[in-house]
Amino acid sequence: MRAAAADWFAAGQTVGVVPTMGALHDGHLSLVRAARAECDKVVVTIFVNPTQFNNPEDLLKYPRTEATDVALLMTVGVDAIFAPAAAEVYPTGFATTVSVAGVAQSLEGALRPGHFDGVATVVTKLFGMTQASRAYFGQKDWQQLQVVRRLVSDLNLPVTIVGVETLREADGLAMSSRNARLDPAARKTATALFAAMSAVAAGIRAGVQFADAIAVCRAALLRAGFAEVDYVELRDAASLEPVQDLSRPGRLLVAAWIGGVRLIDNIPV
Ligand code: PAF
Repeated sequence: MRAAAADWFAAGQTVGVVPTMGALHDGHLSLVRAARAECDKVVVTIFVNPTQFNNPEDLLKYPRTEATDVALLMTVGVDAIFAPAAAEVYPTGFATTVSVAGVAQSLEGALRPGHFDGVATVVTKLFGMTQASRAYFGQKDWQQLQVVRRLVSDLNLPVTIVGVETLREADGLAMSSRNARLDPAARKTATALFAAMSAVAAGIRAGVQFADAIAVCRAALLRAGFAEVDYVELRDAASLEPVQDLSRPGRLLVAAWIGGVRLIDNIPV
């Protein structure tokens, strides 16, 4: 990977990276297309990063579909697919962790201890390995995007981070590798997530109190058939701190369980 990157750099070509954990869907392909439009060379990394799974069962259950992933990537055209082995990424003696405070500590960070340390560490390593000058992340994982922006700024990494808008199914459900684990009934119920979030955002814009709108959203999800709601939060879009008003861009973020699958989503407010 470094040899290819060195050749591209020597030829004055820009490299864009799309970091993924495989199980690719159209959402990932939209990241690749965005990179394709802006960079001379596009690298997609496929690495199911063990250090970002706080639950070992989740890591075991994570879909591994490398052959299909490669075939899909061929349809959009990439210059390299980098799929390192875990022992190559974390060789014996590996002892460094990139840990982001602030933006990484609440929401997913609070519920999944160690998750963002794993993400921040592997993303930093992937930037080093691919030597990319631009990196593409989905807005679907909004908090992850803010964590990556923070670490790139704090560590002076020469990478421009591009957040690509969430791709949704026709009924509004955000595309995610986890959707494949929803049975037909759960898949149907899952549409309530985007509908409830959109109603909250519209309500808040129309002047409904934040706390009231959020309570209505939580109740709507449970009524629709979600088993549990981890959080419904209105936060500052960049710092992810709680907001009292909408003088700065806000973001509504939700995590909820349906059919044994945890879905997350977010929209601007
Ligand atoms: O969003 C993901 O798929 C992962 O968190 C990432 C950014 C590839 C790091 O492993």
